[in-house]
Amino acid sequence: MSNQAEFYHEILGQTKALINNESDIIANMANVSALLFERLAEVNWVGFYRVVDNELVLGPFQGKVACIRIPLGKGVCGTCASTGKVQRIADVHQFDGHIACDASSNSELVIPITIAGKVVAVLDIDSTAFERFDKQDEQGIMAIVEAFEQNVTV
Ligand code: SME
Repeated sequence: MSNQAEFYHEILGQTKALINNESDIIANMANVSALLFERLAEVNWVGFYRVVDNELVLGPFQGKVACIRIPLGKGVCGTCASTGKVQRIADVHQFDGHIACDASSNSELVIPITIAGKVVAVLDIDSTAFERFDKQDEQGIMAIVEAFEQNVTV
């Protein structure tokens, strides 16, 4: 296993240990954002936005205070929620409609949380480095999101 694969294998194990006996989505969002913020290098914000009444509403996160509501289809997070597709953005300044909650963020990875075929939230990870997230980061975080999806009720 590569170092990065080992790293993600380890934090997947830690995620499962944290959430396996808990089905409350907010509690699990809180602990997963804390774990990822602590373990991921060069990351300045990790958190969740929940889909509530057709818009994204800020959920548990780690980092600086952030935008509270994001319309579906707007910004990187709103695009992820409306398309259900992972957004891995090397340079957020090139993303049309990017919402700069923190001007120091330069790259971003947003993963949809899909439960019973519906996007119920997104996990947003921001970095001050350009091109911080590669395909392996995407796959590693997706495995963590899959474990998350299997352990919560909405
Ligand atoms: N940059 C995001 C907004 C959320 S913050 O980065 C925490 C976006 O464009 O959707």
